[in-house]
Amino acid sequence: MGALRMASFLVLFLFLSLSPPLCSAQLRQNYYANVCPNVENIVRSAVTKKVQETFIAVGATIRLFFHDCFVQGCDASVIIASTGNNTAEKDHPINLSLAGDGFDTVIRAKAAVDAVPQCRNKVSCADILTMATRDTIALSGGPSYAVELGRLDGLSSTASSVSGRLPPPSFNLDQLTSMFAANGLSQADMIALSAAHTVGFSHCGSFSNRIYNFSPGNPVDPTLNSGYAAQLQSACPRNVNPNVAVVMDPRTPRAFDSQYYRNLQQNMGLFTSDQVLFTDLRSRPLVNAWAQSEPAFRQAFITAITKLGRVGVKTGSQGNIRRNCAVFN
Ligand code: HEM
Repeated sequence: MGALRMASFLVLFLFLSLSPPLCSAQLRQNYYANVCPNVENIVRSAVTKKVQETFIAVGATIRLFFHDCFVQGCDASVIIASTGNNTAEKDHPINLSLAGDGFDTVIRAKAAVDAVPQCRNKVSCADILTMATRDTIALSGGPSYAVELGRLDGLSSTASSVSGRLPPPSFNLDQLTSMFAANGLSQADMIALSAAHTVGFSHCGSFSNRIYNFSPGNPVDPTLNSGYAAQLQSACPRNVNPNVAVVMDPRTPRAFDSQYYRNLQQNMGLFTSDQVLFTDLRSRPLVNAWAQSEPAFRQAFITAITKLGRVGVKTGSQGNIRRNCAVFN
């Protein structure tokens, strides 16, 4: 009896020690080594060309990756176009501000990969978005890191599945923390990933509540630096054209760096969800630490974005490799 129990314990132990960590599914570096060994270089050169044409592609691609992963996992479901009988994720109101250059970056990188006969229809759109995100971060001066690959493309994309899965800019710390926790990410991961707001643009409507009619006693959000508030009011006058956008990091708008945290220390976070990371004393210590140390921030960001890339990964019959990233096969 004792021996039998010991044997089954051993079998269980072996099974546990051989299984990959739960959330990373079958992801691994160099996943395409046999079928498309040069894939990372091909994607990098397509992305480099796109970014040279327009810097807008940087923020657009990074945000696209985040919005993909938080809704149905990192499966390129956000890239699917709506059809007559399906309103896709990209047409949910929160996704309407995703800039077209992010989608275009993926479409172009996919075309470059598929132009190599050996690679044709072998690399998923979800992995291309993951690589393109890494490349835009590196191209704007952020950390360069090894990406895990092996995601399949999802088989469904609906606007209704987006509701409640992406954070609005009005969220407080508890709301942010619990939404990230639902995706297996810690509060520290959330604080690290929020620094993606060190590059890119925001439409005026995403923060206008902070600069006009904030509350009965305070026309402007008191946690917003008054000089910065004045700048934002002049860039975004009342009734501004809804297409007008401002840079999210006014100090180093084109550099992926830890300036984001130094901005928060000066009450220059653009959204409530940014500034709350400093005003809330529970998250302030990490803001201060990363404001002071670029290497510590970079390490935390690499950890967090690698975890983000593992969210809801599709395997086996849950997905496939799309021929056209915007259309199901
Ligand atoms: C923590 C909660 C977050 C909230 C509430 C939030 C909210 C927003 C909002 C409202 C915008 C501006 C949209 C517009 O008006 O055009 C934006 C832009 C952006 N977000 Fe976030 N975000 C969050 C986290 C993240 C994360 C985790 C990433 C990526 C790792 C990210 C990357 C970006 C980027 C790069 C942009 C600029 C987009 C562009 O230039 O086109 N955000 N975000």
